[in-house]
Amino acid sequence: MPKLIVETCEGHVTSVDGEDGLSVMEVIRAAGFDQLLALCGGCCSCATCHVYVDPSFVDRLPPMSEDENDLLDGSDHRTNRSRLSCQLPFDRTIDGLAVTIAPEN
Ligand code: FES
Repeated sequence: MPKLIVETCEGHVTSVDGEDGLSVMEVIRAAGFDQLLALCGGCCSCATCHVYVDPSFVDRLPPMSEDENDLLDGSDHRTNRSRLSCQLPFDRTIDGLAVTIAPEN
């Protein structure tokens, strides 16, 4: 199974199994990380699934939509590594992707 490396806001790093067909947000939630709220359930309307992605994977991730960009603009914690994890499909092509859960606004 492809792996996703998840770092919490406090710096705890865990490797979790991810299933093809889930989003990165769903993989994180399925692994029990309540810190990632994902309040809208993946509809790209809440920004509570904000993560920082490993820059070496950026080329393998889908481009950011206008909606995702607008939502991230509302975050006090946006960086050039910011993505909404519900907008990132998880599969074998990004095996080993490392993400850090962003602090809440
Ligand atoms: S879960 Fe709400 S925008 Fe991702």
